[in-house]
Amino acid sequence: MRTTVDSRALPQHVAIIMDGNGRWASKRLLPHNAGHRAGAQNLRKLSEEIERLGIKYLTVYALSTENWARPEKEVQGLIKLMHEYFQQYIDDSKKNDMKLTFIGDVSRFEPDLRQKIETLKTLTKEKKGLHVTLAINYGARDELARAARKLAEEGTYIDEETLTRTLDGFPTPDPDLLIRTGGEMRLSNFMLWQLAYAEMYFTDILWPDFGKKDLNAALEWFGGRARRFGGR
Ligand code: IPE
Ligand code: IPE
Ligand code: MG
Repeated sequence: MRTTVDSRALPQHVAIIMDGNGRWASKRLLPHNAGHRAGAQNLRKLSEEIERLGIKYLTVYALSTENWARPEKEVQGLIKLMHEYFQQYIDDSKKNDMKLTFIGDVSRFEPDLRQKIETLKTLTKEKKGLHVTLAINYGARDELARAARKLAEEGTYIDEETLTRTLDGFPTPDPDLLIRTGGEMRLSNFMLWQLAYAEMYFTDILWPDFGKKDLNAALEWFGGRARRFGGR
């Protein structure tokens, strides 16, 4: 079995819609939040593997602007999980080389969670390892509307370049590969602008079950794509 992927064909930036936590939990007769917990654990494990493979950027969809519509108990569970995991990432930052940044409107969160986000960004600012971007309270339409509003208020001319550099994740390059687990073939308001030329890989595997060999299968598939960007 291959344990590494041809580095010439590696994507520079992988984006993941981590879907299927709820179904993973239901299958085990567990509450929905147990699925989110298993999903968060899987992210920790898989990001280490992604770093090991030499991929430079990883962006993950963790909470959408639409997910607030879920039952209060589930939303509270997700916030609690973010607190716990952000704290773990803060503790890890002493020995880890990962850089953590965020996209989405974080002003919606309580000050104590925003404080953890700021601490994480500051602690990992100069790190040279995998750059992980967490999309929380993220919606592509909200991101684009906020960017356009900012440019209009400044009186800046709006074109592709000014809009690109006003989006939340700038200057991270666009994703080359999008992976969505959980069987749905849709974007659910994720990075609509940045995914313009990404290769898209959909799998039925539920996010907490998506392991190293599944990642390898996605990377192998990516390596076989002919990317033309509209050219010949
Ligand atoms: C994705 O898992 C994680 C979040 C949306 C926070 P889901 O909770 O959507 O899992 P399914 O789609 O119900 O299985
Ligand atoms: C997308 O999954 C959001 C995240 C993974 C955070 P959803 O489960 O919210 O998407 P839909 O509702 O199936 O489109
Ligand atoms: Mg879902």
